[in-house]
Amino acid sequence: MCGIVGYIGTKKAVPVLINGLLSLEYRGYDSAGLAVLNNDNSLKIVKDMGRVKKLQDNSELESLTGSIGIAHTRWATRGMPSKINSHPHTDNNNTFTVVHNGIIENYDELKSFIEKKGYALHSETDTELIPNLIHYFYNKNTKKGVLFAVTEALKKLEGSYALEITSPLLKDEIIVVKKDSPVVIGVGKNENYIASDIPAILSYTKDFYFMEDYEIAEVKKDSITFYNYDLNIIEKEIKNIEWDAIASEKNGYDDYMLKEIYEQPTAIRETIGTSFNKEGNINLPLNSLDVNKYNKIYIVACGTAMHAGIATKYIFEKFTQIPCEVDMASEFRYRNPLINEKTLCIFISQSGETADTIAALKLAKKSGSTTLSIVNVIGSSITRISDFVLYTHAGPEIAVASTKAYTCQVTLLTILALFISEKLGLSNTADFEKLKNDLNQLPDKIKYILDNCDKVKNIANQIYQDKNMFFIGRINDYAVAMEGSLKVKEITYIHSEAYAAGELKHGPIALIEDGVSVIGIITNPSISSKTLSNLDEVVTRGANIILISNQDIDINSSNINEESIVKIPDCSSLISPVLSVIPLQLLAYHIAKCKKLDVDKPRNLAKSVTVE
Ligand code: G6P
Repeated sequence: MCGIVGYIGTKKAVPVLINGLLSLEYRGYDSAGLAVLNNDNSLKIVKDMGRVKKLQDNSELESLTGSIGIAHTRWATRGMPSKINSHPHTDNNNTFTVVHNGIIENYDELKSFIEKKGYALHSETDTELIPNLIHYFYNKNTKKGVLFAVTEALKKLEGSYALEITSPLLKDEIIVVKKDSPVVIGVGKNENYIASDIPAILSYTKDFYFMEDYEIAEVKKDSITFYNYDLNIIEKEIKNIEWDAIASEKNGYDDYMLKEIYEQPTAIRETIGTSFNKEGNINLPLNSLDVNKYNKIYIVACGTAMHAGIATKYIFEKFTQIPCEVDMASEFRYRNPLINEKTLCIFISQSGETADTIAALKLAKKSGSTTLSIVNVIGSSITRISDFVLYTHAGPEIAVASTKAYTCQVTLLTILALFISEKLGLSNTADFEKLKNDLNQLPDKIKYILDNCDKVKNIANQIYQDKNMFFIGRINDYAVAMEGSLKVKEITYIHSEAYAAGELKHGPIALIEDGVSVIGIITNPSISSKTLSNLDEVVTRGANIILISNQDIDINSSNINEESIVKIPDCSSLISPVLSVIPLQLLAYHIAKCKKLDVDKPRNLAKSVTVE
């Protein structure tokens, strides 16, 4: 999704802006641009389609010497990727220049409004409306100043926006606005930074202001003033972020995704470590959560985060005895879910900024449900709206395809289920103790898988030219099948589908022919023979089987070649998704490498999906 960076200070703005845009590349984009207010108060814009590298190499940047600048990576929504549609956008008189992350929903209405006032729009974007609206209101009442004109323009906008506004009229400041799209302000000494998210400016500062919806910031090099839309001053607190800037760099790995896959033992150890006390008891910051009042649990999220929910639904049901449903945020928000004050709604999000998840969360709050969110990014929007927040300790996740966030989410959700179980007095069982013990062994077992994964690379070498793949499993092995299939789609562009193993014969088996790869996941001994039979059914129709399992598979009776079996360490089948997903992450990664694809920045995808 679009990324925003801004700088105001004493250094040249361009290198800071370019660095910031490079750090935001993982969000996904198709064009990049920037505007700098030079010392002679002239505003210069350079923008084009393509990578930030191309912008960085543009010789026009040499004339941009000022210390106030705004920059943007665009992920096309309204209007194709093109130079003219790239940001920044200016008004017809070149007075106000704007970069925008979000979508203006009342575009048609505002377009005819502004055109009637004599303004012409040159791009297809909704963003171009904004500088023109500001100009219109400024011209109408110049005495009231720019900030007033900005608020008048904002009152007309419907939709989502994080905005940076610069102008020769604003000699020493950048105006920043937020509604439903993320933006943070980093505080420096005699300089300040603006960005869509923390990693973009983490190498400059660890002190941040998190802007809330309907807030305006007047950012100068030595002061930041926050206002509401009525232009009353708001007091805000600076938050210190402990993340290490180095942790968001590649650290010797070829790609962020590979680095993040290998960080999983540490990330999970940290996530577990912060959820247990020294005595080994679960210790979550949920003292005022009244677990006795719930008769329903909803887990709501998007993409990989939703798969973490599906993988742990069974743990919630088994240990809390409360029915648990998992839903896609994009569906939940529009389908009038049956939720009330007796519902515990759990939201999962790596970024804490996913637009659909935020909307679903707001809906749940309105219904009187309790909202509890599992988030990776500290201070993100979801954490500020939810009644309760638990943090995964995955550290910054940069690769678009989520890996360590997923395994940390599954781990933390499991701990949450056990926490509720204990509070409900249901924990006095051998299964409870076993799961608790198994949790603590996860980091070492993941490390074992990572240290012994050559087979996965070989398999990737053999199947990377496939056109179709199937992932099958039952119960939470099916949840992992979905996640494995998503990883393959996201970064290898191979068509892949996940199916509950028993459903295969109700249609998809018609697609099985010679050489189609079917990846089976088997970690539950009580039903392993069932999934094995389903694999046999496809073997006889010519499929190429790959098996991820913690069981001793009798190869002769199952027709599966030993080289295609990836053995993972044993553990309770309930928590096995944290282990069985690792070979699938690596499989997708190595296939993408064989195909020479950009694993960290897959086409069309965005890390942080801040629009609907
Ligand atoms: C995007 C990302 C996925 C992610 C999903 C939800 O689609 O590409 O990797 O799972 O958003 O993101 P969230 O930040 O809410 O976990």
